[in-house]
Amino acid sequence: MKPPERVTICEVGPRDGFQIEPEWIPTELKVDAIDRLSDAGLPRIEVTSFVHPKVVPQMRDAEEVMARIRRRPGTVYAALVPNDKGAVRAADAGVDQIHTVVSASESHNLANVNMTIAESLVKLEAVMRVAERAKLAVVSAISTSFGCPFEGDVPLARLERVVAALVDMGVRAISLADTTGMANPRQVGRVLEHLRPRFPGIEWILHTHDTRAMAIPNILAAMECGVTRFDSSIGGLGGCPFAPGASGNVCTEDLVHCLHAMGIETGVDLDRLIAAARRVQEIVGRALPGQVLKAGKADRRYPVPDAVAARLGR
Ligand code: COA
Ligand code: ZN
Repeated sequence: MKPPERVTICEVGPRDGFQIEPEWIPTELKVDAIDRLSDAGLPRIEVTSFVHPKVVPQMRDAEEVMARIRRRPGTVYAALVPNDKGAVRAADAGVDQIHTVVSASESHNLANVNMTIAESLVKLEAVMRVAERAKLAVVSAISTSFGCPFEGDVPLARLERVVAALVDMGVRAISLADTTGMANPRQVGRVLEHLRPRFPGIEWILHTHDTRAMAIPNILAAMECGVTRFDSSIGGLGGCPFAPGASGNVCTEDLVHCLHAMGIETGVDLDRLIAAARRVQEIVGRALPGQVLKAGKADRRYPVPDAVAARLGR
């Protein structure tokens, strides 16, 4: 494998992570977490979502969060929207980019956004018009791209139809989302090898969940296919509230640690990132799944035991 020189990470913890927290996270704590992620140099942050406040109560302060974060030059601040109403709210709140969502499987789309895929696509066309007027770029995520917790396998032809519909409406960046961690590296390779030549000029992003410890292997498989954009979440927070069995995204500091160890640049300051993860642990009040947070970086060293030192003649 010839690894890329540089990878772009989009931090999704403040949205994909915080959205499932059952206890209300006060706005100032969300802002504090996002500011620390900015300070760590993350090039992209999905700050929040503009969705129905009754459906995802944790995101009901989306406008306020957007208004209060410190915007670091060089970081793109995006938000997720399911429809044009969300896009108008996001544009009014001053996002840099809009992220949209539709599923590749009918049942997950209905569970997530109360629309059929066809109905969602109509709404997403309206989102495109809002984005055009506001001069905002759009990244479109496709949930359950690699499998659905209700339907199981999602045929590649069905995923391709959703991709084609998005491309037809002018989307240029597509995030394939493994919503509940069902993808395996071979499948990721197969899907990307199928889609990439059929949709030239599209920028592909992989959005992984580490539900079954396959996230980093899947990212490596995608890198082998030329993908250099990945979503991850601080500490490994996350999960879809409308996908049973969903758990956290691939952990940002674990991913950055792995990439840096491989000599791949991310532009992220790993020490600051680890400090941010520690702060997010305090905010959610429990240990997060991140491994580097527990183990320390690979250059961590321990004192040599006395008996060993004696044998070594030290
Ligand atoms: N933000 C705020 N309010 C919204 C909204 C949005 N993006 N979209 C619709 N609404 C409001 C409508 O204005 C309407 O309000 P009213 O009752 O005061 O007239 C009400 O919601 C119902 O509108 P409707 O279009 O019928 O929406 P719905 O009830 O079918 O819900 C979604 C559809 C998409 C808004 C809702 O399912 C949702 O927000 N889902 C997001 C799920 C999510 O975030 N999942 C995790 C991320 S992948
Ligand atoms: Zn997700």
